Amino acid sequence: SEKIIIDTDPGIDDAMAIFFAFQHPDFDVLGLTTVFGNVPVEMSANNALVLCEMAERSDVPVTMGMSRPLIGRASTYAHFVHGDDGFGNTGYIPAKTELDGRNSPQFIVDMVNKYPGEISLVPIGPLTNIAMAVRLDPSIVSKVKRVVIMGGAAYVPGNVNPVGEANIWNDPWSAQIVFEQDWDVTMIGLDITNKLRYNQEFLDELEKGNSKLGGFVNRISQFYMDFYSKGQTTRDCRFHDVMTLVYILHPEWFETMKAKVMVSCEDMTRGHTICGPEGKGISEPWTSGPYVNVGLNADEQKISDLFKKVYA
Ligand code: BDR
Ligand code: CA
Repeated sequence: SEKIIIDTDPGIDDAMAIFFAFQHPDFDVLGLTTVFGNVPVEMSANNALVLCEMAERSDVPVTMGMSRPLIGRASTYAHFVHGDDGFGNTGYIPAKTELDGRNSPQFIVDMVNKYPGEISLVPIGPLTNIAMAVRLDPSIVSKVKRVVIMGGAAYVPGNVNPVGEANIWNDPWSAQIVFEQDWDVTMIGLDITNKLRYNQEFLDELEKGNSKLGGFVNRISQFYMDFYSKGQTTRDCRFHDVMTLVYILHPEWFETMKAKVMVSCEDMTRGHTICGPEGKGISEPWTSGPYVNVGLNADEQKISDLFKKVYA
């Protein structure tokens, strides 16, 4: 099975992804490292503990990490997408279990050194913890198996500003650090995740398959669907974060391109992931640095069948 660390800011689609990882026999979840993003980091940590309790997986360590981007002003959070509680205003649940005392970047460094070559990092929030872990111990770059990020937008518009996707926008400085390291990075961004829509019928099937976990995802997604459906004729939502995990299991379901990715940290274009496809580099910085695997398309039917199977 795949050893993974999920770096997360739960968050509705984060919850859907974490339950998916817990339910799938091929994942060995070594920890949930939390970060600010959709909600403040204290709430993010609390919610991750609560998800472990619900799934009866309190054996999985949960850590609290960075509370704001490396540079610049503190975040404004996405309560209008995920609710005041991060769980679609279904009500804040205080965790009964305790955090691992380590800070998220330290936990990542410890685990990668414990299992060199074996761990896939799965960041589904802002990349601050990952960048801090690299700064804390640069040797982890060659010891991580790969990094599969939910974030960015190659050829489609952003969701915070016309070019910036939320996870990258929240801390573009950290994202730039992560993209310029010489490790195996895949970016699963809005090019893929905005195309895959999930409606009430799908959520009812998840609940039918797993009344506890699917039922919770169904309840918290109501507010989320209202947000995503504004100005649409259909009512549905997007489970961005879980696509990283599907990619690890089934890369053959995804169309990707090799590109060098640079991140804009300028106010007006903040968070823009500018992709220079292989062979098209003309000058610095496009001729140096590692290639990133950038996701462009995915097999919608196979993915939704897999979700139903795993939540059954
Ligand atoms: C990303 O931003 C957050 O709101 C979601 O949890 C996801 O990680 C989508 O842009
Ligand atoms: Ca997230």
